[in-house]
Amino acid sequence: MPEKTTKKKETILSGMQPSGSLHIGNLEGALKNWVNLQNDYWMYLCIVDWHSLTGEYEDTSGLKENIFQMAVDFLAAGLDPEKCAIFIQSEVKEHAELHLIFSMLITVPTLMRLPTYQEKKDTLDSYGFLGYPVLQAADICLYNAHKVPVGKDQEKHIWLANDLAKRFNRIYKKTFVEPEALFTQIPLILGADNRKMSKSYNNHIPLSFTEKQTEKRLKSFYTDPEKIHQGDPGHPDGCPIYLLHQIYTPDAKEEIAPPCRSGALGCVDCKLKLSANLNNALRPIRDKRMELLKRPDYVWDVLLTGAQRARQRAQTVMEKVRSAMKTNYRGK
Ligand code: TRP
Repeated sequence: MPEKTTKKKETILSGMQPSGSLHIGNLEGALKNWVNLQNDYWMYLCIVDWHSLTGEYEDTSGLKENIFQMAVDFLAAGLDPEKCAIFIQSEVKEHAELHLIFSMLITVPTLMRLPTYQEKKDTLDSYGFLGYPVLQAADICLYNAHKVPVGKDQEKHIWLANDLAKRFNRIYKKTFVEPEALFTQIPLILGADNRKMSKSYNNHIPLSFTEKQTEKRLKSFYTDPEKIHQGDPGHPDGCPIYLLHQIYTPDAKEEIAPPCRSGALGCVDCKLKLSANLNNALRPIRDKRMELLKRPDYVWDVLLTGAQRARQRAQTVMEKVRSAMKTNYRGK
């Protein structure tokens, strides 16, 4: 038998701001994807608490609980701490060191042109916020990550990380892998008000909801405004409930869309069907959540071990950085 060619495992890093308990949009858009990737890559998942300070630097009272809830959801969704280092950004100080070095290699106008800065600059114009993508580049390059699974909205930030890696390599010495985005097909998930599902709009379905809360939230969902009475023909395309059926109801195309269109299926029943299917799908995750909540020490321990593993890798890369820059004054 010919020997199997074992391709060297590549590294993946992704990050998420600690917004607390996650919702089904995060589950479908990021978590499920990460759970699949953890088998094929060295994986680092960074809870980026410093990034969250760019927006919310005054009231930091909820940070610790938000980090904890997020870690609980990561684990409940199936991330395996043996395969994936889950850690808090500020527990690996090297992120700050590389951020500082990278900040020398980029101009202020380049940062000011980024759409993420342009969108918020009227309300948020701190030095730290301008440097947000530089810190993100440091997060990525600190682990020499090859791939960064993110949504399309992060495209320019990953490009910037790639550019900073190239620039450093060119100026000093080849040190960094040039990272690339790994865009995934993210299903569109809309919230109760038909806008993108988001905690900040309070239109979301958190994983932490009970089955009753889920049902209640689904009942409040926007539906086809032309379908007022049971019997009125509906338009499943463009209905946020039908979007969810397509994920959580196995034969939605046959079972839901035709009776909605004909008027045989009313919105209330349609929502109840979805609620049952969604709750079934979330049950294992919610059960695991409940278990983890009883073991907070275990969860904090996962984050500690994650930080230790991350730090090891980060320190190796920073040694190379200092050596390339000839700033390892006491080394050879
Ligand atoms: N900016 C990312 C977001 O808003 C979060 C983030 C911070 C990140 N550091 C990262 C994502 C590193 C990927 C890699 O979603």
